[in-house]
Amino acid sequence: MTSRANLSGKKALVTGGSRGIGAATARRLAREGADVVVTYVHGKEAAEDVVRAVETLGRRAVALRADAADAMEAAGAVDRAAEALGGLDILVNNAAVGLMQPLEDMSLTDVDRVIAVNVRGVFLAAQAAAALMAPGGRIITVGSCVTRRTPGPGATLYAMSKSAVTGLTKALARELGGRGITANVVHPGPIDTDMNPADGPFAPDQAAMTSLGRYGTAEEVATAVAYLAGPEAVYVTGAELSVDGGYAA
Ligand SMILES: NC(=O)c1ccc[n+]([C@@H]2O[C@H](COP(=O)([O-])OP(=O)(O)OC[C@H]3O[C@@H](n4cnc5c(N)ncnc54)[C@H](OP(=O)(O)O)[C@@H]3O)[C@@H](O)[C@H]2O)c1
Repeated sequence: MTSRANLSGKKALVTGGSRGIGAATARRLAREGADVVVTYVHGKEAAEDVVRAVETLGRRAVALRADAADAMEAAGAVDRAAEALGGLDILVNNAAVGLMQPLEDMSLTDVDRVIAVNVRGVFLAAQAAAALMAPGGRIITVGSCVTRRTPGPGATLYAMSKSAVTGLTKALARELGGRGITANVVHPGPIDTDMNPADGPFAPDQAAMTSLGRYGTAEEVATAVAYLAGPEAVYVTGAELSVDGGYAA
């Protein structure tokens, strides 16, 4: 297969790589030539399916149980991935909690959990990755179109968390640019996954909010991540790349 991104010999970690966008990203990076570690919490079998799919493509793959809600595990996953693969070139911060509910129903536990997984885990993984990445390293975070346009009530915590990692990405780009490491954020629109199924109760409204009038696929997001991970994106950093079917247009 011809490779546009050309990730031959690269070593990647995709957090939350057992399902949805993370799984599609792991497979896509492998198709471009990368060895891949995926993390999961509950989806051991699904993560092992991803490992087998990557191995079928002729690349190395490892599944690690690492809960991004736990500070030690979030940072430790990066070191474990680098140890398993013999280094780390690409970090894809994908794992997140998609909690949607009315403001008045958000408990302190909800606040702490969303911040722990969606923000603190991303920060700690980026910090650990930056400590061991060589020039050419890539930090790619999966944000959300809700940072640009919220769909309606219920998105307070989630939108706050995704805006936080968008700010983090820009600051990382400034901090790590001198070392030749890029940091970018991809903002998916409504994507058909377990988190936001295309046959869910709010799906018709979300599809209607896009310019293209449909849900996207995990593979369509993975394509953008692979581009940012590859050599053609060498001069792209601190960028927000929307893959949202025109949701924010
Ligand atoms: N789908 C959408 O419409 C949409 C839109 C905008 C942005 N996004 C973003 O895209 C990313 C992926 O979403 P998705 O739709 O693919 O979600 P998904 O189908 O729910 O998959 C979530 C993945 O993250 C893992 N995960 C969840 N909590 C974790 C934790 N505490 N530690 C480590 N891994 C954890 C899950 O692992 P287990 O299998 O072990 O549970 C699973 O692999 C997220 O950052 C999400 O916010 C999604």
